[in-house]
Amino acid sequence: MKGIVLAGGRATRLGPASRATSKQLMHVYDKPLIYYPISTLIHARVSEILIISSPDQIGAFQSLLGTGEEWGCSFEYAVQTEPRGLADAFVVGADFIGDDDVALILGDNVFYGGGLGEQLQRYTDPEGAVVFGLWVPDPERYGVLEFAEDGTTVAAVHEKPADPPSSFMVPGLYFYDNSVVEVAREIEPSARGEIEITDVNNVYLRRGTLEVSKLPFATDWFDVGTFDALLDAQTWVAGQQRRKGLLIGSPEAAAHREGYIDDEQLHALAVAAAHGGDLTKSGYAESLLRILEFEGTH
Ligand code: TTP
Repeated sequence: MKGIVLAGGRATRLGPASRATSKQLMHVYDKPLIYYPISTLIHARVSEILIISSPDQIGAFQSLLGTGEEWGCSFEYAVQTEPRGLADAFVVGADFIGDDDVALILGDNVFYGGGLGEQLQRYTDPEGAVVFGLWVPDPERYGVLEFAEDGTTVAAVHEKPADPPSSFMVPGLYFYDNSVVEVAREIEPSARGEIEITDVNNVYLRRGTLEVSKLPFATDWFDVGTFDALLDAQTWVAGQQRRKGLLIGSPEAAAHREGYIDDEQLHALAVAAAHGGDLTKSGYAESLLRILEFEGTH
């Protein structure tokens, strides 16, 4: 399965901070926001990844992330000329997807939870589509799942419903079989002028091939679209990392854990994170080194 990180958009809610830089390059505590969705894909063992962004920002992503080789991955880049909607990822990414299945993750979505990687790995060969259901207190802000009477089969997906049929929303991570490219090409723009991912999911639903996997209640998830969400995510990551002495949303740590890179390569990445200088000056570099120390203790 291949993966796409959708990292374009207007980020109007982050203006003026987003005027000259991309939202997904802003930092969430000690690392750029886009590190988080990339690490989620790596935990799912998806390592061939396409990064899609706007014409003026794609070069910055290339400078930051390179070929992906250092993380045991392969990164490609594509431009979305206009933010035409989330489903446009499959139109822009059609050549990259080729004959494969594909996972899409939004570049501003942060996921964290024990066992999440293993749960995701179960769905990397989908027959149809797989979306995830996450319990939230404010489902009306998102795409919301309506369940059939058995409580697990999806009856419908509603986009920002005034009267939500459940408290389970669909976060920005979706797994599809190869037919998603054709499905996305057929979607007509919605009233707000975007080709909507909910419409893609509803095509699979009508075919009877939309599967939902509920995420554990304790899963942490942030949609980092506003200044408050950015601050909340920053504070949460900082607190978790300080308390547990581990890194959240680190592609290097994920690649090491999934066996894409060995101890020596991780050490070299810590040196690179500190720009080749004093490792104690970069908290991120120190945290990478701590992974190696921690391993030695058990
Ligand atoms: P949104 O948060 O819905 O949109 P946005 O990032 O442009 O922000 P705002 O609403 O403040 O203007 O987008 C979710 C993610 O998908 C985010 O990472 C940007 C990305 N995106 C694209 O890359 N292309 C698109 O056409 C759209 C709609 C979003």
